Formats: sequence, C-alpha cells, structure tokens
Amino acid sequence: MCGIMGYVGPQQAAPILLDGLTRLEYRGYDSAGIAVAGGGIEIRKAEGKIERLAALIDSEPIAGNAGIGHTRWATHGPPSDRNAHPHADPTGDFVVVHNGIIENFYALREELQASGASFASDTDTEVLAHLVASEYDGDLVAAVRKAVARARGAYALVVMAKAEPGTIVAVRKISPLVVGLGDGENYLASDIPAVLHRTRDFLIVEDDELVVIDADGASIETISGDPVQREVFHVSWDAEQAEKAGFEHFMLKEIHEQPSVVSETIAGRLEDDRVVLEDAAFDDDFARGIGTLWITACGTAYHAGLVGAEVFRRTLRIPTRVEYAHEMRYGDPLVAPGDLAVAISQSGETADTLAAARLAGELGARVLALTNVVGSTLSRDADDIVYTRAGPEISVASTKAYLAMLIGQYLLALRLGRARGVLDEEVARRVTAGLRRLPEMVEEVLRSEKDVMAAAESMVDADDVYFIGRGLDYAVAMEGSLKLKEISYLHSEAMPAGELKHGTLALVTEGVPVIVVITQRDVYDKTLSAVQEVKARGARVIAVAYDTDAEIGKFADVVLRIPEGEDLLAPVTAVVPLQLLAYHVARLRGHDIDQPRNLAKSVTVE
Ligand code: M6R
Repeated sequence: MCGIMGYVGPQQAAPILLDGLTRLEYRGYDSAGIAVAGGGIEIRKAEGKIERLAALIDSEPIAGNAGIGHTRWATHGPPSDRNAHPHADPTGDFVVVHNGIIENFYALREELQASGASFASDTDTEVLAHLVASEYDGDLVAAVRKAVARARGAYALVVMAKAEPGTIVAVRKISPLVVGLGDGENYLASDIPAVLHRTRDFLIVEDDELVVIDADGASIETISGDPVQREVFHVSWDAEQAEKAGFEHFMLKEIHEQPSVVSETIAGRLEDDRVVLEDAAFDDDFARGIGTLWITACGTAYHAGLVGAEVFRRTLRIPTRVEYAHEMRYGDPLVAPGDLAVAISQSGETADTLAAARLAGELGARVLALTNVVGSTLSRDADDIVYTRAGPEISVASTKAYLAMLIGQYLLALRLGRARGVLDEEVARRVTAGLRRLPEMVEEVLRSEKDVMAAAESMVDADDVYFIGRGLDYAVAMEGSLKLKEISYLHSEAMPAGELKHGTLALVTEGVPVIVVITQRDVYDKTLSAVQEVKARGARVIAVAYDTDAEIGKFADVVLRIPEGEDLLAPVTAVVPLQLLAYHVARLRGHDIDQPRNLAKSVTVE
C-alpha cells in the first residue's frame, strides 16, 4: 500500500530517494518522508504529495550518501506530518520505514509504554523503531531480527542506524521488496519501476527474508539467519513505458495503449490450432479432470473475472464460480482437489487475492495466477502463471490491465477447451480469428473518443448514474460503473437489466443517466425492453452498441458505437467507451484522475 525506497552509494541520497518515491507515488500519497545518514541521521517528512516533501527539502537540505524513504497510504493514524514515515526511536539513532500492518502493535506499544517509552505518532510503525533500538547491541542485523520476531502481520521493513551509516537492513514478510543492483551503489524499493531507470538487475526478496545492502553489494539471508543464494533477475521492460507519453494523464495514456496491449497479450500464444501459455505447466490430463473452475480477485480484476466466468462456463461447460477474494478467504469455500483456481490481480500483491489463492491451494486446487507483474508474490505462489503483459500500469484506475486480463482468460478458455475436447471447432476458429482482430477494433473505438466526450458533457452534473446489461454486458456494466465512481466521484450502480424493475426503477426519473451495454444478441430484445422501461420514466439513455445495430438509435439518446464482432469477445471493445466516459466526466469535474481520493493502486493490506 505504501511505497518504500532505500539508497546507499557515492551520490547524495536525498534526490535519488525523492525521485524513487515520485515513481512509487501511485502506491500511496497522503504523506512522504526521507531519512538520510550523513554526520548523524536527519529526517524530513510532510503530509501531502511528494512535491510538499521536495519543497521542504529545498528549504532545509539534507546531505548524506545513504538513506531511506517512504510514501504513505494511511492505515494507522490519519495522514499528517507526525504520522508520515520515517519513524525514529526516541534517541533518533534508529529510523524505519514500513509498508504493511503490524497486527499486534497495540500490545507492543502498551508494553513499551509501561517501561517508560513515549511515542511521537499514532502509527503501528513506530513500535518497530523502538523495538530495534531496544534490541540493539552493536549489530543492526541481529537487532532487526529480534525486533521482527516480536511483530505479527504483513510488512516490508527498512531500517537504518546512526552507528552503521553505510548499511541498510530490510525484512520482507508478505509486502513486496526488491533490491536494485548498481555499480558501487545499491537500492531497495517496493517495486521495480521505482529504480528501473537506474538499474535493470534486481534481487527479489522473498517472504521471511532479511537483506543487507551497502555500497558494495547486497546479501540475503532467511530471517532465522541461513544464507540465501538468489539469482539476479534481469528486467527487460522499457523505462519509457512508465512515462505519460504526451497524454494529460496516465489513465488516458493507458487507455490508448490498449490496442498494443491486446496484441502483446496475444503475441506468440495463438499458433494455428494451439494456444501456448508459456508459464502454465498444467497438462491435458489435469485440464480434462477439472471439477470446478474458481475465479477470485478484487475490484477491476474481479470484474474481469465476471467476464471470464461466463466465458469459461459457456465454452467449457464446467461449473464456474467467481468470488471476491475477501469473501472467499473467510467464506469456507467448497474448493476440492482437482479444481482450478484462477487468481486475477494486476499487481499480484493484493493481500486478499493472495490469501484466497493460498486457501484454494491448501484445499487442493491447482492455482493459476493471471497477473501483470512478473515476479509478483501471486506469480511466485501459483502453480501456473499467465502474464497479462500490459506493461506498468500507473493510473490507480485500472484500464489496460483489465483488457489484458480478459484476453488472458480467452486464451485460457481456448487452451482448456481444446484439452478437454469440448470446444466446438467452429467456435474456436471464430474466437481465434476474433482475438486477432481485436487490436484494430479497439483502435477503431478509440477513434470515436469525441462522441464519448460529448456524452460525458451531458452527464457531468448528474447525481446518480445507472449501468445495465445482461450476461457479458452486465459484467462490462459493472466495470464501467466502478470506473466512473472511482475517478468522477459520481454515485453509480450497475445491475443486470432484468433486475431494474425489482426496485431500482423507482430511482429512475426525468434526466437520470442510464447507461446500457447492449451487444449480446441472444438477450438483445430483453435488454431493449429494459431500455424502453427507463426511457418511459424519462431517463437519458446512453447505449454502447454495435455499429450495425439499427434498432437502438430509436430509443437511446446517445449511442456509442463499437465494431460488430463475436459476442463472446464484445467485452473487450464495449468497455473502452465506458473507460473514456469515466475519464472525461472526471476531467470535466476537475478531479485528480491518476490519484483519486482515498484509493491506492495496490491494496497490500487486508
Ligand atoms: O492489483 P489488483 O488487480 O489485484 O487490484 C485489485 C483492485 O484493487 C483494483 O482493480 C482496483 O479496483 C482498481 N483501482 C480499479 O480501477
């Protein structure tokens, strides 16, 4: 949830830390801070975005060649200067930054207070600074090891001591942590993109491991002290991919990247009548024996799963369940050996999704990770991986990762369907051809952005918006509604078109925008009836429909056209006008689109 950074080397640490934190800001941005070891250790921190911290450092410079930094998304204690990281022990000789939650921090804090300690913040993190200080006996590694032995929870913790100024010690328990390897300098970060422009060589720190970096190198050991040999992970991503490329916001850039993302996700995976999923190791026997196919995820990834569930059920004819990860993990699910659990997560670090996937694995399912981040925790936990290959997604509102998740599931459906011998050859041929056409079709939708902008203007002052659809269109409506909510702050709800008359219709009055996704031919007439029902109550209807649909224009006030294609693949094109609609409504309302209030890109706490 928070972003963490560390640097040791010959350069001034402060500018490097600030730069890294700026690149990590999508992980949390309610306050930020750094600590730098020069003569002693000095801290600068400020509530608000990184530019406030940068301004503070400009007015009160901080010199030294080693340092740690943090950008925060509050869990314990409100956003404020005093709750911003780094936190120090009362002497100021030990400083820590931390991502995650220390579950037993109240008990630890009470215990420390009982022995006279006073605390300068409301955070769970500060107890760690106190614990390290109280355990220190001339060896920082030993002190950190003893301190974390007392803490329960999920965290990545980074520590510096005044007495050992050229060394940084860090521990990982669930929350992500990587080491960037430089030449005579080394970095720590919660995500690879933070330092990708400085190095392409990384060590991935695993759960329950401790890492020590100094200017000359990095060494990893288990938390209990056994040495670990970790291979260097060389990253071939282009650092330019993480820039805005001339768009006003990352979200818009990422929406426009989607044609190439779709091509990239498919690339090399559709070979004549074979689907090649290079990191999915299951064999045909396993595919044939799958009992139930579970899909688990949160947010947009869950909405991608709604599409997947329908696709798998229709093409494979096996029982398919899609579950919110936070519900599944405590819901005593009836997962059984022989089941396949598909865990979907852009980041691969969402705490609930990781827990649900682990539970499914423990109950005997084979776990397949559908994720965007190579080397993420989910990918390392899973038996099989399908990488979505969408590239770094910076905007908190997920767009291109969603499309790539859809493509990943179509590929998986083809792969499983062939193995199980249940896939109608004609359907397989049409879906394969349809997938190949999608990049151009998405491009075509993007060319109609002006129509979407006009629709956005017409609903910018609405109080409530409703999204409806049936089957796959309903799954798309869910995603369109979430997109609108999270960046425009308009109240919106999505529901199956047939559900409207069971209650929500009471809220549809003159001028209320109702957005209907109407692509699925088998239920077209049924959806059209719902359109007529809302129209009769004065709704302003905005439809997403095929360019060949001559009927919808008679009822809808605005029709956003998508190229006609396979109904099964329609979610890929139908969601694009809804992403653009959310973007332009939010832009017209003057919101901070890439960093919506109260949200963080990666939810690594429960
Ligand atoms: O990294 P994940 O895909 O696991 O993230 C899951 C959700 O937190 C995420 O999709 C969230 O809903 C997005 N902000 C939606 O745009």
